[in-house]
Amino acid sequence: MRDPRLLARLVPRKWNVDACLKHSNAAAVEKNKKNSTPACVDVYVPASHAFNPAVLPGFVGLAEQHGLKSYKDFHRFSLENSDQFWGALGSAYLDWQKDFTTVQESNFKTGDIKWFLGGKLNVSYNCLDRHVARTPDKTALIWEKDEPGKEERITYSQLLGMTCRLANVLKQANVKHGDRVVIYLPNCPLAVAGMMACARIGAIHSLVFAGFSADALRDRIQNCEAKVVITVDEMTRGGKVIGLKKIVDAAVKDCPSVQAVFLEQRSKNEGKATKLDVRLHDALSGVDAICKPEVMDSEDPLFLLYTSGSTGKPKGLIHTQAGYLLYAAVTQQVAFNYSPAEDVFGCVADVGWITGHSYIVYGPLANGGTTVLFESTPLYPNPSRYWEMVERLKINQLYLSPTAVRSLLKRGDEHLRDHDLSSLKTLGVVGEPINHEAWEWLYDKVGNRKCPIVDTYWQTETGGVIIAPLPADAGDPIYPSMAMRPFFGIDPIIENSEALVDHGADLAGAIYIKQAWPGITRGVYGDQQRFVETYFSQSPGHYCTGDGAIETPEGYFRVTGRTDEVINISGHRLGTAEIEDALDLHDGLSESAVISFPHSVKGEGLVAFVVMKDSHAKDDRKKIVKELKDVIKMKIASYAVPEEILICQSLPKTRSGKIMRRILKQIATSKTDDFGDTSTLADPYVLEAIIATWSETHTHAENTKT
Ligand code: WTA
Repeated sequence: MRDPRLLARLVPRKWNVDACLKHSNAAAVEKNKKNSTPACVDVYVPASHAFNPAVLPGFVGLAEQHGLKSYKDFHRFSLENSDQFWGALGSAYLDWQKDFTTVQESNFKTGDIKWFLGGKLNVSYNCLDRHVARTPDKTALIWEKDEPGKEERITYSQLLGMTCRLANVLKQANVKHGDRVVIYLPNCPLAVAGMMACARIGAIHSLVFAGFSADALRDRIQNCEAKVVITVDEMTRGGKVIGLKKIVDAAVKDCPSVQAVFLEQRSKNEGKATKLDVRLHDALSGVDAICKPEVMDSEDPLFLLYTSGSTGKPKGLIHTQAGYLLYAAVTQQVAFNYSPAEDVFGCVADVGWITGHSYIVYGPLANGGTTVLFESTPLYPNPSRYWEMVERLKINQLYLSPTAVRSLLKRGDEHLRDHDLSSLKTLGVVGEPINHEAWEWLYDKVGNRKCPIVDTYWQTETGGVIIAPLPADAGDPIYPSMAMRPFFGIDPIIENSEALVDHGADLAGAIYIKQAWPGITRGVYGDQQRFVETYFSQSPGHYCTGDGAIETPEGYFRVTGRTDEVINISGHRLGTAEIEDALDLHDGLSESAVISFPHSVKGEGLVAFVVMKDSHAKDDRKKIVKELKDVIKMKIASYAVPEEILICQSLPKTRSGKIMRRILKQIATSKTDDFGDTSTLADPYVLEAIIATWSETHTHAENTKT
């Protein structure tokens, strides 16, 4: 048995030690003995969830031709015969206007990645028309609005009608193949129709999460030089009204590329009209409900999605048509055990993030399924919201964030009582590591120990799930808090490990992927050099995820968190450099260092250590802290505001001037007994002053409302 204390030192921040023990069950049993709840030992894949090629398009043919039976057979085959595997799935899952001639040309040294070359298709045709031909009245979307019980159902034929009208409106506005369209909307049918309409005419959409500030929206619009923006005057979230139009108006003032702002009106407030405004209601009623789908090349861009990296500037990751759609569809079906003919898929993410793209919109619609568009919050009007919704909508797969699970767990089991959750078959989590307690609560209390938990590991860059407990064969184990098995076509390896020996048989280090899969991003918009440097330069020939992981001898993976300066607040990615750049906008700021600390609900919380210029040294601290918080809200979004902002005299630096963040992290987690090697610290006395400031001013960041 390896020594947990040793493990504690080696395992990246924020993981509790028991959670990192191989198989983890021994620790879970011990912990639960104390808590007197049964531990989640002996969790196995039930036969009903076992990988079954006979019910999956494309897989059945491969199984017959190559004698493949199990998940393991298929996984091996998908790596050794990548072209044959994805070629068969590409033909079976998608409808092509012209067949592809080459499955892939991928080079992880140069970052040139192409799939299904020569193929022509239309993504909106694949998501809508072909289903309308067979099941026009099937529900495509269930729009679960902010107020519970007010859901609206939209059929495939209605969604196609909306899409075509919107596509015609965009065409009238001179939006053409390759033009960029920014969509700034909450989860609502218009957002989906907007994505589909762009796909229909070959425009490239870029959704911006409707919690981002005007400045953040402006930066994204400017970066992609969007021609139009689609938005709504107001949205309601958790009972609160948020005026989106005002934010768009402020953003587009400095965006000369924008020629029109298409506006859906939900409220009676007329608001201030600008010369860019086009009222969607009027525009849509004046156009045809038929729009011929544009014939697109497999590798034409489908969308851009901005995400944080380790520099201050978010990058617009590019996803293209065929490979992305195929990967979203296959992973949605196989990793969640989704049956498109009968299941209701409940992914409660926001369409503005990649999870919403792949598992609210593209995956479920390509599969012809029914997908929920959840516009509210897990706590509105009370912490029973998800459970009441699961019962009412008869959701079969619920896909949520570990932060939401932790936050609901904290509020007690009584909120689950009196709700019939028997429709649930699979529970999925994503976005950040899930701790044991949250995993077990989900498995035990929500899933009634019947639903496999799929802890899905993936990224905006990967397009879809790359490591997850499913697919797997009947009776295969599922270990708590572990993403476990690589998806088909995914060949992860652990590299750069300093900890190989100490982990015994386990490998620990950074996780890389050896070969391309169809869903991988094709680049950073306008900056191919950044793409290659960020993802392919650390270990040439391998894709660098930027995450740390542990691999067991059985080949199961546990993802432990980022290895770079990217942090995960409630599952949302943020670069510390991005926040530091925002703080820098304050006139009085001299320098800052933003670090994260483990937060029991959000996964990670933020602390900013700031040094003010002499001219501001005597200013009222409360006032400065408020100003700094406002600057972050203005530049990024409210969720990026640190729990704590600490004004210090100076920051701990090496002699060469590099801030020693490791030390700040120790201070923020009150681990000040031993700072380890501080020989490179230029001025050791700064530590005392920072520790004193921390204990005087910090206000128990943990208790910050979530
Ligand atoms: C983290 C979200 C642990 C990881 C789909 C990754 C996870 C980043 C998991 C991507 C998981 C995602 N376990 N960590 N199951 N899933 N992450 O681009 O650090 O918003 O790099 O995509 O979230 O975040 P992104």
